Amino acid sequence: MKSKVSVIGAGHVGATTAQLILQAGIADVVLYDIAAGVPQGKALDMTEAAPLWNVSSLCTGTNNLADTAGSDVIVITAGLPRKPGMSRDDLLQANAKVIREVTSGTAGLSPGAIYIVVTNPMDVMTQIAWKVSGLSPRKVIGMGGVLDSARFRTFIAFALGVSSEDVEAVVLGGHGDLMVPLRRFTTVKGVPIDELLAPERIDALVQRTRNGGAEIVSLLKTGSAYYAPAASVFQMVRSILLDEKRVLPCAAHLEGEYGVTGLFLGVPAVLGKAGVEKVVELRLTEEESKAFNQSASSVRRLLEGMAQQ
Ligand code: 2OP
Repeated sequence: MKSKVSVIGAGHVGATTAQLILQAGIADVVLYDIAAGVPQGKALDMTEAAPLWNVSSLCTGTNNLADTAGSDVIVITAGLPRKPGMSRDDLLQANAKVIREVTSGTAGLSPGAIYIVVTNPMDVMTQIAWKVSGLSPRKVIGMGGVLDSARFRTFIAFALGVSSEDVEAVVLGGHGDLMVPLRRFTTVKGVPIDELLAPERIDALVQRTRNGGAEIVSLLKTGSAYYAPAASVFQMVRSILLDEKRVLPCAAHLEGEYGVTGLFLGVPAVLGKAGVEKVVELRLTEEESKAFNQSASSVRRLLEGMAQQ
């Protein structure tokens, strides 16, 4: 039987995610949105492209969450995007409401599903989705680290004039301004970037990575990035559906790993059929741990701020 992926939110990130899944032919997709006609139109358009993509997968558009029943993976992209000058955290209250609604509206219908949360501020939204879903924390995952690492890889590749495919990078922590690109674990075909670039060049690339989402927002002016976010979600969906067990940086529920308990935060994790099958613990230096803890504190502060409202 074909796998089923439901994508909640038919905006740019959601629709592009649906497209990538369909093009790969790894699942049928249900595309949900509250806007009448939009998911239906996009889904039909994509399904009409299927014969040209040489795949037999189908995309169904809907305004009814009941159509997501029996999903293997549910990707939540719904919510407001950032406008220029806004941080991801500015979206907190409005998007928390959306996440609660769509999670409570889907969880009972797909008891075996693994959730991937994309909506910002992503780490906090993942925590809310988990609470509302009642699922094991291993089945709820936030998308941030794959995207942040892809950006870091891209900027390093620009700086060195090499293919970004040959750059390996790890970004830990929250998907926010305090994310922690780990230069010590960033290599070009195994060679640490410290041996290839001057420290101040690396500092600038780290800063550009932290600012990567805002850079796109300020260029687009209306809306935020979607090609790289959707490609990041797709890599996670594929690893889960095909049980690839890729080691991907993503927001996973920490239960003592990295000295943090009870919080979703970006760490490398093995993604397979069961969701987060293992959190990979890197041995961090004191400075790296400090940066990680600062990022954890900022996510915790957002969560506590929400609880008080
Ligand atoms: C980004 O970093 C939207 O958070 C997303 O572009």
